[in-house]
Amino acid sequence: MKRVEDYVRSIPDFPEPGIIFRDITSVLQDADGLQLAIDSMQACLKDTEVDVIAGTESRGFIFGVPIAYNLHKPFVPIRKKGKLPCETVSQSYDLEYGSATIEMHKDSIKPGQKVAIVDDLIATGGTIEAAIKLVEELGGEVVKVVFLMELAGLKGREKLAGYDVASVIKYDGK
Ligand code: PRP
Ligand code: MG
Repeated sequence: MKRVEDYVRSIPDFPEPGIIFRDITSVLQDADGLQLAIDSMQACLKDTEVDVIAGTESRGFIFGVPIAYNLHKPFVPIRKKGKLPCETVSQSYDLEYGSATIEMHKDSIKPGQKVAIVDDLIATGGTIEAAIKLVEELGGEVVKVVFLMELAGLKGREKLAGYDVASVIKYDGK
């Protein structure tokens, strides 16, 4: 019986020397791998009461939507700047070089709603830290954060102290 990590392809020295790129396309393009990934991430939510699933563009959409669909919950996209047509809240965060901004529609979450945020990967934790701030700015309560993969060597979890964080696959390195 294969495990979900068996479907992740690891590419050394991409996008630069010394970095091992954990590729999810090899998970997605295998019917068993895809099902296992979504089921494993969804299992992390089995004991959590949730009103809304939110996912970060773009890889968070791939996993967030099927989980929301299976649980019969709404899905809220957290998008990269300039994509959402109505009133938004926005949050900037640091990347290795420069910064990025993500946004949510102001009416996407109602105050008091319990929100689970889904993404494929936690590396530095910057993306999800920004996503949490947006959800909270809208009055949502972040009850769980679920990743398929965690690069534990980058210590992204430290940015999420106090939150309930789950990852299906943990890699020790970067
Ligand atoms: C990647 C990945 C996570 C984020 C993790 O997204 O999908 O969202 O980086 O990094 P962090 O923990 O250091 O913030 P990316 O911004 O490359 O965009 P994509 O999902 O559109 O590919
Ligand atoms: Mg992403």
